[in-house]
Amino acid sequence: MSHVTRREVLQSSALLAAGTFLLKPAFAHAAPFLDAVHKAETASVIDAVPEIDLGPRDHQLFDFDWRFIQGHGTDPAKDLNFGSDQGDFAKTGDFHFSQPKFDDAQWRSLSLPHDWAVELPFVNDPSLNSHGYKPLGRKYPETSVGWYRRTFSVPKEDEGRRIYVTFDGVFRSSLVFCNGVFVGRNDNGYAPFQFDLTDFLHYGETNAIVVRVDASFGDGWFYEGAGIYRHVWLTKVDPLHVGQWETVVRTDVQAGYATLNLSTIVENTATAKDRCSVKWQIFDAAGKVVATAESPAAEIAADSKQNFSATARIAHPAIWSLAHPVLYYAVATVEANGKVRDRDRVGFGVRTLTWDLEKGFLLNGEKTPIQGTCNHQDHAGVGAAVPDRLQAYRMEVLKGMGCNAIRTSHNLPTPELIDACDRLGVLVLCETRIMSSSDEGLAQLSAMIRRFRNHPSIFLWSMGNEEWVLQQNDMGPRVIRAMQERTHELDPTRLCTAAVNGSWDKPLAPCLDVMGFNYNLSQIDKYHKDHPKQLTIGTETASAVFTRGIYTNDRLRNWVSSYDVNYPETSVDFGQKWWNFYGARPWLSGGFAWTGFDYRGEPSPYGWPSVSSQFGIVDTCGFPKDAYFHYKAWWDNKPLLHLAPHWNWPGREGEEILVQAESNLDSVELFLNGKSLGAQKVVPQYHLEWKVNYTPGTLEARGTKDGKVVLTETRRTSGPAARIVMTADRSEISADGEDIAIIRVEAVDKDGLPVPTADTMIRFKITGEGALIGVGNGDPNCQESDKKPERSLFNGLAQIIVQASKKPGSLVIEATSRRAASATLTVVTKEARLRPAVPSASRA
Ligand code: GAL
Repeated sequence: MSHVTRREVLQSSALLAAGTFLLKPAFAHAAPFLDAVHKAETASVIDAVPEIDLGPRDHQLFDFDWRFIQGHGTDPAKDLNFGSDQGDFAKTGDFHFSQPKFDDAQWRSLSLPHDWAVELPFVNDPSLNSHGYKPLGRKYPETSVGWYRRTFSVPKEDEGRRIYVTFDGVFRSSLVFCNGVFVGRNDNGYAPFQFDLTDFLHYGETNAIVVRVDASFGDGWFYEGAGIYRHVWLTKVDPLHVGQWETVVRTDVQAGYATLNLSTIVENTATAKDRCSVKWQIFDAAGKVVATAESPAAEIAADSKQNFSATARIAHPAIWSLAHPVLYYAVATVEANGKVRDRDRVGFGVRTLTWDLEKGFLLNGEKTPIQGTCNHQDHAGVGAAVPDRLQAYRMEVLKGMGCNAIRTSHNLPTPELIDACDRLGVLVLCETRIMSSSDEGLAQLSAMIRRFRNHPSIFLWSMGNEEWVLQQNDMGPRVIRAMQERTHELDPTRLCTAAVNGSWDKPLAPCLDVMGFNYNLSQIDKYHKDHPKQLTIGTETASAVFTRGIYTNDRLRNWVSSYDVNYPETSVDFGQKWWNFYGARPWLSGGFAWTGFDYRGEPSPYGWPSVSSQFGIVDTCGFPKDAYFHYKAWWDNKPLLHLAPHWNWPGREGEEILVQAESNLDSVELFLNGKSLGAQKVVPQYHLEWKVNYTPGTLEARGTKDGKVVLTETRRTSGPAARIVMTADRSEISADGEDIAIIRVEAVDKDGLPVPTADTMIRFKITGEGALIGVGNGDPNCQESDKKPERSLFNGLAQIIVQASKKPGSLVIEATSRRAASATLTVVTKEARLRPAVPSASRA
């Protein structure tokens, strides 16, 4: 075993900060339909967060009651007259649209997160291919700019506090104004940013904040959405306060205890020097204080900062692992002369990350091959504006197939995605957007490291993806060295990689702490031989490329068969091969398939009218394709038997149909209407195949282990759709204005058999305490609206997402169709703790 010296630090590394508590076991009471795929979290995401008193600090969600209007990229008259003449930015305080009294009655009311791109029609223009044919860009000025406005009161007593607004992510180019004043800009669409509003507020009066968002330029080559698509926060603190993302917990695990190295940077924004100390309390998952620590007191000059540190010890710590992702919380309190001045909280986990040249990656000392998927951030119905609970749902779907890691390709993630990974036990390869050592590149990278460094789920940082220019020239090594140096400075506990797809013989790749291979299996052994002292991982490995429920390649319909036979040109290796390859090389640390979820944009392999990619192992709703069961068989290690295709082939009687079974048992015997079609032995990693003359009825597979039939799986020919069935992921959600229910909609025949080919249009009526926020069906070619209360089924399935209001009661969803009997589903919205939120100013 040859450890890499410079990486020894990692053997006892630190962890996480995020902010969530497991009040209830995470995997109990799954709704029935989820059993096959994954188990749902029972608590709402907000219920899962402990109420820890932050003392004098107010940290409020700034998401509710915004107003929105579409602007214009080139015509000031249609853009609130912004930019009508040269002088807009000439004087401070002059921007009329952000004055509290500005009349915004014509603006639409909405809550954040919000993605206006998903509301736009699809436009057949090849230049829109990456955005999934949504009209964004300089050619579409009328749909590329949006304005957000919010009025709010600031009480007189807040005078003297520092008041910050934080945006977790806005796509893209945002200009922020407050009470007529331009307070700052942020260009990229993924890094969080903060502005100090203190000097510009009217204390004891109404205030207004306005954000102009311009999505004319993109950051990527995939669907990126448009708007304030992540949370916004208002934070009010004492002038002497904990810096943003400046409480860090690093853990050193020893036999029987863990030492916590605690540090907090305190900022003194006052005009006089001050003197304080920092006290830390460590809470376990049950909310019990398990350790405390205190720093010596120190003086902080006016307008400067100071690092405070101490160590604490937890005896017999609960170790964060994939099976038991246990979190702790550190609360840092700033005290001056016995008075609490500020308090901040971070979550963390106790676990070790180790890298080994022969064994690859080890979590808590155990070899843990990365069974990963890359994922973009959008989901059916909501685009990039993904509610917190949906982040968890997406991870549950992936975890359900044994996926133990995600790569946040190709950008800084939404914090709640990382919270979900911490809570559910999913490792994260966290990726920054641009590979650059420019000020902007390092600023994005630094924001990512500082924001996420406490999170136990993050095991590796990625400096970027497929930068083919830097991969080849002499800038590349300089850029990578600067980025890695910055990363190690801010986080000495983790290593860096980058996703490299060529120029193996050029100097960038060997500079990486961990070499990241994108595809190109044929290059890997040679590269490893040439660089035996470099750690390796598969940053992007292979794609499945299937249309869910379709079993033929059809160029006219833009369908790709779900039989595992398709793969993109970039990937010489289809789904089944890569895991065999990686599994056979213990020095490779595993890898990430492209992708877990289908995503909008990159509508490969066909283009228009496809609007989504087909690379996913699950579709844009999270409905599994057959490939899901291939991965599940070999990644999840539980007995599995899966049969494809469905058995509804009217008109094809007597024709030969290819039947495939996925199984990790010893052998599988197939029966058609009770008659055996033969048994076959399972070859690990490969599916079994039979050619079957089609006769309607029951296709049954019996899976045998040690001579006993342990699993059976059937596909039955159904009649036409007779009824709609709806199933919610949770039957009770929180009435907090944020929680959602994710509802599976399907058609069954008169006997209750699912109709796998149903394409019925379903109309929805939502009454009661909540609203519909999105619909989808996973069809990459479907151009129906994501927002209208209707959706056709695609191969038997659709999904709708409903969100609770803040009033307890119930949400009633009625689904009707011309071809099947209607259905009604009630989701209870129960009284819930609301997160502290910025109250709205009353509109006179
Ligand atoms: C990769 C790239 C991904 C995606 C994929 C499609 O090379 O990193 O972002 O574009 O190709 O096959």
